[in-house]
Amino acid sequence: MKVLVFGRGGQLALAMRDQGTGAGHAVVCLGRESLSIADGTAVADAVRAHAPDLIVNAAAYTAVDKAESDAAEAYAVNCDGTRHIAAAARDADIPFIHVSTDYVFAGNGDRPWREDDATGPLGVYGASKLAGEQAMADLGPARSAVLRTSWVFSPYGANFVRTMLRLGADRPELRVVADQLGRPTAAHDIADAILLMAPFVADGSARGVYHFGGAEPTTWHAFAQAVFVSAARHGRPVPTVHPIATADYPTPARRPANSVLACDRYLALPGAVLPDWRIGLDKSVDALLTAG
Ligand SMILES: NC(=O)c1ccc[n+]([C@@H]2O[C@H](COP(=O)([O-])OP(=O)(O)OC[C@H]3O[C@@H](n4cnc5c(N)ncnc54)[C@H](OP(=O)(O)O)[C@@H]3O)[C@@H](O)[C@H]2O)c1
Repeated sequence: MKVLVFGRGGQLALAMRDQGTGAGHAVVCLGRESLSIADGTAVADAVRAHAPDLIVNAAAYTAVDKAESDAAEAYAVNCDGTRHIAAAARDADIPFIHVSTDYVFAGNGDRPWREDDATGPLGVYGASKLAGEQAMADLGPARSAVLRTSWVFSPYGANFVRTMLRLGADRPELRVVADQLGRPTAAHDIADAILLMAPFVADGSARGVYHFGGAEPTTWHAFAQAVFVSAARHGRPVPTVHPIATADYPTPARRPANSVLACDRYLALPGAVLPDWRIGLDKSVDALLTAG
């Protein structure tokens, strides 16, 4: 299968390259340096030129805090960009899988969020991603799906695991938020989930919104502790991680307290499982600590 990925240097784009190529697919990743998804003509031209069997949107404006003061750019990428790809996919009748976020939800309550639950983003990033989902739904490409995921980490780019490894290298004590709950998710597991979904999206048996994430929900605090347990395998010191409240760590954008996605719809797909994020975590830590 020929897979066209929008995004090139990001966590998911690189993981799509790794997993897609590893599974024997031809993967073409288009980065911002050659094409902005905010440019509808460029997106349509690229889809025509590459004529792929599957389109994946791994490009997004993901700077959650910066988006609060940069709404126009966040919407240009996350809403307009998604609409442009959806339109090109519909016009060429190519299966399209778009990736979205747990931040479309307000995060209240303690029940995992289902695909049809009412959305209520707390900040510009979540609102712009939701606007992208809605723009895509309005266009209605026949063969398409949205995969919402959460707390993405990998050996690539900026992410929580990399930040913890950097801070833990020279600090004996850290303070990490303990009152937000979610599913850590390895970017490579998202790539595998996309590849698993692809034939069902192509034959029309999977469409609409799906939730996907690591098997066991946890807090940022417990996730940080797991990072240091994993890093200790490489002889790294294990700092003390103190639990703090979200209110003690103010950020420009509010985050959902309960980010846990209910993944039953994804799990109903043949062959689908929720991955153990600890396995992905060990792989990411190994890659990050042996990269030099
Ligand atoms: N990271 C998370 O924790 C998280 C959580 C839930 C959902 N998600 C979703 O998962 C998906 C993948 O996220 P990620 O973690 O891989 O993000 P990422 O590492 O920040 O990568 C995003 C990529 O998008 C590219 N990009 C930004 N603006 C663009 C534009 N105008 N045209 C083309 N490319 C553009 C960036 O290019 P440059 O490299 O040139 O900057 C970057 O490579 C996104 O849809 C995101 O919303 C992420």
